[in-house]
This record gives sequence, structure tokens and C-alpha cells, in this order.
Amino acid sequence: MELKGVILAGGTGSRLYPLTKVTNKHLLPVGKKPMIFWPIEKLVEVGINEILVVTGTEHMGDVVALLGSGKDFGCNFTYKVQDEPGGIAQALGLAENFASGSKLAVILGDNIFADPLKPYVDRFLSQKDGARIVLKRVEHPERFGVAQFEGDKIIKIVEKPKIPPSSYAVTGVYFYDSEVFDIIKNLKPSKRMEYEISDVNNEYIRRNKLYADFFESWWTDAGTFSSLKRAQKLVEELENGKRI
Ligand code: G1P
Repeated sequence: MELKGVILAGGTGSRLYPLTKVTNKHLLPVGKKPMIFWPIEKLVEVGINEILVVTGTEHMGDVVALLGSGKDFGCNFTYKVQDEPGGIAQALGLAENFASGSKLAVILGDNIFADPLKPYVDRFLSQKDGARIVLKRVEHPERFGVAQFEGDKIIKIVEKPKIPPSSYAVTGVYFYDSEVFDIIKNLKPSKRMEYEISDVNNEYIRRNKLYADFFESWWTDAGTFSSLKRAQKLVEELENGKRI
């Protein structure tokens, strides 16, 4: 597979405190598995076998103890430490050597969804270059990066807008070519002093190279008490065969 995978599992998990006092958010249970298994299995299912896992210093030991070499998943894991929680784009910047010129499929470790990645991967690999994101219509777009449209063209991604320009959240599923690393190197930190993935996507928009898909089935993140509860409910229905 010409595409490599990246799972971003850093951050402090502060919105789930005290569940995250002694462990990493991505190790908390969702249904019958640790949260991080869900996005990993999505990458493996589409044939991606080289996967980089990025997490912070505090819980790297537990993440490695849980995931191991990758042989139980049918893939190879590489691990990288993000010293300080400086944002998703900063964490992705650590993947440059791992990527060594390959295109990347990136999933945030707390994103759980039903649709197979295959159609998005196929479309991304047939792009000459650029990036691809996956959108999902949500009830509370102000919690996310939100797409602003002009007709059916995305003209901007606004991170956590007070007044959302649409109901379409940018999910934590992204595809990038190797230009992403130069873009990340030129980013400036946001008001919350993080390197924002939305700024990366806005730069691709500026270069006229950002393409988008829409999830057809359900999608959720699991980084707050209410979204974790929602993830539990959706996954329980999936595990009981009441949902696909
Ligand atoms: C991050 C991104 C946001 C995206 C979301 C998806 O937000 O910054 O653009 O919509 O993931 O899960 P966070 O969950 O880190 O606040």
C-alpha cells in the first residue's frame, strides 16, 4: 500500500478529567475495546500496514504495552513522542521521517465511525496531489472545525466558531500529500497556543488543493463526557447488530 497511516493520540484529555488523571484518553473503553482500537482498525481494514502512533510522554509506555508491534492487528506500528501538547498539526509534523515522501491517512485517536475508508482512499490516491478531508453534518458544529461553503466549494475552515458558517464539521479523518510538512513548518500558533490542523487545511484551500467527502453513516469523537457517552451508545448498537 502506497499510503501510510498516522494515529494522533496526544493531548491532555482535560475535558474528560478525572477519567484521564492516570491514563490517556485514547485508552479508555468504548464498547468492548480501548478507544484507539477503532481508528486503528479502520486503517488496517483498508490495507494500510505501516502506522505511526503519536502520543505524549506520560502515557507512551501504556500505549506501547497495549498496542505492541502491531502483529495482533496485522500491521507495523512506529511510535513517536509529542513532548508538549502543542496541537494536532504539531503532532502530525512529527510524522515527516516516517512518511518519507509517502501520502498519509491521518485519524485522530478519539474518532469513531462506521463508514469504510475505501472510497475516500481511492479518491485521494487518484488525486494528483493535495489533501482530502471528510465532513459530517452535526448538531453542534461550534465544537469542531467547520466548513464554510460558497456554492458547493469550501472556501474556509473555521476552528470552533461562535457562529458556525454551516452544520458541516471537519471530522478527524484527513489525507495529505508530503507538502503537509512544509505547511506545518510555516504555521503560527493559534490563540489557544496550539498548531491547528484547520490552519493546515486552510493553506490547502489557498493552494486550491483541498478536496472533501462526506461520511454517509454515523461519526463521533469521544473527547468530552457527552461525546464519549454518544460513542458508547453507537458502538453498543453496532456490537449488538442494531446498527451498521
Ligand atoms: C479537533 C480539530 C477539529 C475537528 C475535531 C474532530 O478538535 O481541531 O477541527 O473538528 O478534532 O474530532 P478537538 O477535538 O481537538 O477539540
